[in-house]
Amino acid sequence: MDYSAMSQVRKSVRAFWDTPVPALTVDEIETYFGRCKRLVPSIDVQMRIFERDVKEKLEGTAGYQGFMIGAPCYMVILSDEADHYIENAGFIAEDMILKMTELELSSCWITFSDGEEVKKALGIESGKRIGAIVAFGYGQRTSKKIRLNIKSMSNIDINVEREYYSPKLSIDELVHIQKWGGKSTIEDIGDTDSALWRALYAASLSPSYLNRQPYGFILDNGKVILVVKKDEHTDEVNEKLNIGIVMLHFSGVISQMLFNVDWHWGAPEQDLGLPADCSAVAYCLV
Ligand SMILES: Cc1cc2nc3c(=O)[nH]c(=O)nc-3n(C[C@H](O)[C@H](O)[C@H](O)COP(=O)(O)O)c2cc1C
Repeated sequence: MDYSAMSQVRKSVRAFWDTPVPALTVDEIETYFGRCKRLVPSIDVQMRIFERDVKEKLEGTAGYQGFMIGAPCYMVILSDEADHYIENAGFIAEDMILKMTELELSSCWITFSDGEEVKKALGIESGKRIGAIVAFGYGQRTSKKIRLNIKSMSNIDINVEREYYSPKLSIDELVHIQKWGGKSTIEDIGDTDSALWRALYAASLSPSYLNRQPYGFILDNGKVILVVKKDEHTDEVNEKLNIGIVMLHFSGVISQMLFNVDWHWGAPEQDLGLPADCSAVAYCLV
């Protein structure tokens, strides 16, 4: 897959046509799940696709402020519980979303707070945990683009009639050199054709809970360190989903242009000059 291109095309769509997704396309999605990227391959995961009544069943249980997006299809990722299973679910679901984008489908992540409640509502009998929910189908287009400036759970414009454009962090804001706050130059990242630049650009376009993008990267001599900032509006589950998603965007482009990325969890042993509300969660070598 062309991760660089798909990360630029993807955006959250919140209004869908009723047109069903053809069975052949659903088959293609299911087949892709068998070989999609995994962050922690040892964790057993399953994907379920639901095509009816999901909006009604999950209204009040999932979505920003319990507001469910109506779509012809929903993808649910189920996962065994293990270390980093939520980041893994975020990574997998985002890979599936980029595949859907390639298949010219639109999509939107759906948040949830009580996975057991979701399982009950959807009649899922499984010992696995809910890892991710994504609405998908053929998105409606409108010419009017407005910014979705989400400040907090109680201050979100959830008007589904419009197509939203969400502002994103620039590479300058996302990337730090050697230490947190270190300004980057073209020598550090390369030009816009370099694999590193393109991977960081794809990372900057990642979807995140409430579009808060509470993270950044520190680059230090080939080491790429992912740093997460504590965010008062992002709880632990959504923080971990954000981490998996941004790792997928970065890794997808590096694997497309160079080689597969091997992430190590935790912080490398060096002074990163991190403020108290930031912590290094993982690093890799590029
Ligand atoms: C973990 C997660 C949960 C999300 N939940 C919802 C949701 O319930 N409803 C919604 O409209 N958007 C949801 N979103 C979409 C984000 O608001 C969206 O990604 C962000 O505003 C950036 O916009 P973009 O996806 O168009 O780049 C969620 C995103 C993530 C990563």
